Amino acid sequence: MPFDVASVRAHFPALAEGAAFFDGPGGSQVPDVVGRAVADTLTSAISNRGTVTPSERRADAVVAAFRSAYADFLGVDARGVVYGRSSTALTYDVGRAVAKQWAPGDEVVVTRLDHDSNIRPWVQLAEAAGATVRWVDFDPATGELQPDDVAAVLSERTRLVATTAASNLIGTRPPVHQIADLAHEVGALYWVDGVHATAHASVDLGALHADVWTCSPYKFMGPHCGVLAADPALLETLHPDKLLPSTDSVPERFELGTLPYEVMAGATAAVDFIASLADLGGEADGSADGTASGSSDATTGRRARIERGMAAVHGHEQALLGVLEPALRDLPGVTVHSNAQARTPTLLFTVEGRDPQEIRAGLAEGGVNAPAGHFYALECSRRLGLGDSGGVRLGLAPYTNEDDVDRLLTGLRGILGA
Ligand SMILES: Cc1ncc(COP(=O)(O)O)c(C=O)c1O
Repeated sequence: MPFDVASVRAHFPALAEGAAFFDGPGGSQVPDVVGRAVADTLTSAISNRGTVTPSERRADAVVAAFRSAYADFLGVDARGVVYGRSSTALTYDVGRAVAKQWAPGDEVVVTRLDHDSNIRPWVQLAEAAGATVRWVDFDPATGELQPDDVAAVLSERTRLVATTAASNLIGTRPPVHQIADLAHEVGALYWVDGVHATAHASVDLGALHADVWTCSPYKFMGPHCGVLAADPALLETLHPDKLLPSTDSVPERFELGTLPYEVMAGATAAVDFIASLADLGGEADGSADGTASGSSDATTGRRARIERGMAAVHGHEQALLGVLEPALRDLPGVTVHSNAQARTPTLLFTVEGRDPQEIRAGLAEGGVNAPAGHFYALECSRRLGLGDSGGVRLGLAPYTNEDDVDRLLTGLRGILGA
């Protein structure tokens, strides 16, 4: 059964405006169910968390549902799910607690492939602690980040290895599992920026051997916020600064102030929406209907449905990429900078002699949203030889359809006179 993209699109009021959205890597559009969850929670009878009144219990249930949803989504214990304003804020906040354990002479590993939010906090925290930063490069021609290059900078002084699970600029998906094992061999903590990757593949933190995973629901059809996942036993070893009366329990001690229940409810609804995609065909197997009688929890539970939903999204996005990528590479003067073997459906391109912003503006005139820049992957853009102006980035999403791809290619041909 092919992926039923028309059914997916019917859930997105934003699509009525008529634009073709290729800007998902910056932030996806949001389905009706997520918007309703936010509004319903915000306008429900709700108080601060507690157990005495129905409204207190409602707030408590929203938080519990959020942790349970992200436990299923990321393959972790619910006590290891931390809510945050954004992944950047979580990296700074939890990173400060991590860095309290560093001493002068310790070493911290970052890569040039990463978004700046998984570089600069570590560079600044290392500087404050007197630790040394070791940089891992990637090959600008292939876009690959090699585990051997990570291994080359590790030592018994390495305290932290920070890499992305997928580049938000060129899509490269480094071998997280292999890097995790290398980091653990020297006793280092492995911190993974999963913000771009989480929108395109199901995540099982245990299987990936990563210690910390950050993601941002607004990249996968949820509201604007961040989520950090880790083993609760690891979180127990970290002690962030906190107020005297606020709880010292995990994960709450990392969540400063009153939680935004409505945003958490929306983030939960985004996970449930992805689970619902299991029923829409694509790569999901024949038993995609989770209500089929006789099936066990292993196939009907939310985790299993998330995996099938993400498999369906992957199949759909790869099919569209199979149309878009060769056509893009064929256009005169176009260089595609997304070349890694394993990568997300995210294409960065430049056109000889043309400013990326001019291409972006030309596409926007035809209702095609495809932004240009370095997208905060500044080190990566510079290493690719694209300086601070970067390129035009095209991202595919569950709601992208063939018509969107046609419009994009027609628009580009017009701009390039091809
Ligand atoms: C790979 C990657 N990491 C981190 C971030 C930052 O996420 P947030 O906006 O939640 O701080 C982004 C945002 O674009 C990203 O793409």
